Amino acid sequence: MGKQKILVTGGLGFIGSHTVVELQQAGYDVVILDDLSNSSLQVLDRIEKITAAKPTFCQVNILDKKGLNELFAAEKSIAAVIHFAAFKAVGESVIEPLKYFHNNLLSLLHLLECMEEFEIKNIVFSSSATVYGDPEELPVTETTPFKKALSAYGSTKQMGEEILEKTSAVKNIRAISLRYFNPVGAHASSLIGELPLGVPNNLMPFITQTAAGLRRQLTVFGNDYDTPDGTCLRDYIHVVDLARAHVKSCDRLLQAGMTEKYEVYNVGTGNAISVMEMIKAFETNNQVKLNYKIGERRAGDATAVYADVKKASQVLGWKAELGLQEMVTSAWNWQTNLMEMATVL
Ligand code: WQD
Repeated sequence: MGKQKILVTGGLGFIGSHTVVELQQAGYDVVILDDLSNSSLQVLDRIEKITAAKPTFCQVNILDKKGLNELFAAEKSIAAVIHFAAFKAVGESVIEPLKYFHNNLLSLLHLLECMEEFEIKNIVFSSSATVYGDPEELPVTETTPFKKALSAYGSTKQMGEEILEKTSAVKNIRAISLRYFNPVGAHASSLIGELPLGVPNNLMPFITQTAAGLRRQLTVFGNDYDTPDGTCLRDYIHVVDLARAHVKSCDRLLQAGMTEKYEVYNVGTGNAISVMEMIKAFETNNQVKLNYKIGERRAGDATAVYADVKKASQVLGWKAELGLQEMVTSAWNWQTNLMEMATVL
C-alpha cells in the first residue's frame, strides 16, 4: 500500500510545521493548507531541508469554502486531517471575540462539511489545556470538568470539542482532540521554530527575545501565588514531543484501534515548572543572563495547570521524552539562528 496522505491545516505554523516533519519522517505523505496569515513560505523550504521531501502546499483561507472544496476535489484519498488553522492569541481574543468565534468555529464547520462531502473519516483537532480554566483538582485528567473559559479563544476550543463529539457520534467521522499544555522549544536543526508576530504573549518567546536583546526586560507576572516560589506553575512540553503525539493520533485513527468515535488526550509532560524555574533553567543551560523584574499579576492567569498524562501513555502509546534542558537550549538555538538567517536573507 502507498503512503497514506494527511492534510494539515495551518501546517506552516509553529506546531503545524513540526508535525509535518514528524509525519513525513513517520512515512506519511503530507498536504499543507495554509493562508500565510501567520506564517511564512520560507518554512516550507526549511521543512524540505530537514526531511528532503517537499510537502504539497495549497494557499487557501479555510473560511473560503469554495477554495476548500477545490482542494478536497484535487487531493484524492486524504486519509486524515489534522486541524491547526485557527487564531490563538488569548489576549486578542478577549478584545476581539467575534473575530475569534467567526474564524475558529466557521473554519471547523467548513472543514467538517467538506470531510462529509468527500468521505474523509478522520480528524485530529488542536485543542488546549485552556479548556480547564483555573482547575481546582491537579493534575488535570481528561475528565476534569471544563471551567468557564477565561477568553473567547478558550471558548472556541471548548465549542470545537463539543462540535466534534456530537458530529462524530452520528456521522461517519472519528475524531481525536489533543489538549496541548504549554508548547515550547524548536526542532534540533534550528530551521523551524516559533515565529511570534509582534510582541510575544507567551513566556518562552519573550525570554528568548529578551536574551537576544530584542526586548529590554522580561516581566515576571507576579510572585505572590500559592506556589513553592510564588510564581505560576505550567506543564511545558517540547514542540517535537507534541508533534509526535499527532503522529500517534493519526496511527490510532488509521489502524482501527479506536473503540470510541471521539477521544480526548492531555498532551503534556505531567511535570509542573514555575516561571522562575524556567528562567533559571534558561540561564544555566544557555550560559546567558536574563534581564527580568517581578511585576504585577496578569489578569486571567491560572495559579497552576499541569497534566495527568496516563491516558496518552496507556491508550495512545505516546509520552513526552524531551526534558527542560532540550526545551530551553532548542528555543535559544532557534532564536540565535533566526537572527543569523534574518541578517543573511
Ligand atoms: C506562562 C506563564 C505567565 C509571559 C497560553 C494559552 C494557552 C496556550 C499557551 C494556545 C504564566 C508567565 C508569561 C511573560 C510571564 N496557547 N509569563 N511573563 O498563559 O499558560 O497559556 O499559552 O493554545 O492556551 O492560554 O502561557 O506562556 O503566556 O504564560 O511571567 O512575559 O508565564 O504569567 O504564568 P499560558 P504563557
